[in-house]
Amino acid sequence: MSFLSATLDRVQPSATIAVTNKARELKAAGRDVIGLGAGEPDFDTPDNIKEAAKAAIDAGKTKYTAVDGIPELKEAICAKFKRDNGLDYAPAQISVGTGGKQILYNALMATLNPGDEVVIPAPYWVSYPDMVKLAGGTPVFIEAGVDQNFKITPDQLDAAITDKTKWMIFNSPSNPTGAGYTADEVKGLTDVLLKHPQVWVMTDDMYEHLTYDNYVFATPAQVEPQLTERTLTCNGVSKAYAMTGWRIGYAGGPEKLIAAMRKIQSQSTSNPCSISQWAAVEALNGTQDFIPENNRTFKRRRDLVLKMLREIDGMTCPTPEGAFYVYPSIHGLIGKTSAAGTLIDSDEAFATALLEEKGVAVVFGAAFGLSPAFRISYATSDEALKEACTRIQEFCANLT
Ligand SMILES: Cc1ncc(COP(=O)(O)O)c(C=O)c1O
Repeated sequence: MSFLSATLDRVQPSATIAVTNKARELKAAGRDVIGLGAGEPDFDTPDNIKEAAKAAIDAGKTKYTAVDGIPELKEAICAKFKRDNGLDYAPAQISVGTGGKQILYNALMATLNPGDEVVIPAPYWVSYPDMVKLAGGTPVFIEAGVDQNFKITPDQLDAAITDKTKWMIFNSPSNPTGAGYTADEVKGLTDVLLKHPQVWVMTDDMYEHLTYDNYVFATPAQVEPQLTERTLTCNGVSKAYAMTGWRIGYAGGPEKLIAAMRKIQSQSTSNPCSISQWAAVEALNGTQDFIPENNRTFKRRRDLVLKMLREIDGMTCPTPEGAFYVYPSIHGLIGKTSAAGTLIDSDEAFATALLEEKGVAVVFGAAFGLSPAFRISYATSDEALKEACTRIQEFCANLT
């Protein structure tokens, strides 16, 4: 009898965390490494949010709370959904968990049965397929390549849906590509979903506030109110408020689903950290002024990276509408050999050789389900980005 659960055979460890750890190890061993793997803002959490957390500690808000969130946070989330998305959720339709990750996981655990299919556009955030498998479901992928700006079409969605489809996961702006769907493009997809009443939408709006140029964010339930009764609108404070370590994510959805998610959470982690919840109340209710400021910095960095990568022959890089990632396609570099003699026969080989030969850590595209490509996170300093892109240029110039 095996000690370890057979469930483990169904899942992979997170490739993005693996790259971050590898870069950290090399750095600790004295190597000059620039890490472009991390999926978190390099900004500090704003002071007003930190003060709210300190005040919560001093006021003794350090005990268990209601399993899926304190009433004050649920009220703040309802107000946020109304303010930003025009969505009317009541507190009983809100769930708060330990990061957006737990919210998505709870929802899949609460709904999937063996044989249930979940449609996932690729490239995708690394955790979706493994969470689906952990919950006993089957991921079904729709590929959206660089030629379609990493966005799926309504026809592709229609073709992927079967009578076993339970969910479609929708993430815009996307990790790993930064691609953001316009309201019209979302409407194209929601029109298809209207024809398939058995399919629910799990929309991951984690990067809602990190958008650039004239892009206007739109979420499915806002674009198509008829879908609200089968939509789980997921979001969180991790990215927009630089609060990745605080672990607060949330969702709005039908009360029956929210209650089922609460049941899962009540027998696993119980409430998310009480202090973090009070910090999140301040994040959502307090000033939002630093968001456009941070976005100006992110946009400058995005443009810097795009300009330098576009100077490389064999690389194609569309302009992302949001998030803090770019996802260069490297079709033109596959089959070449690096200066140290490594055959670049895959994007994993590309990323490994780039790390070993030039000390630049990126995540290879296969981890996100679309190759050959790699992901750069530009949530780091301009200096580090310039140096990293110069090294990538040199690495590629030396490919033969
Ligand atoms: C698309 C997407 N969804 C969800 C998450 C998880 O967010 P959290 O840190 O709040 O669990 C991430 C974090 O990288 C993400 O990129």
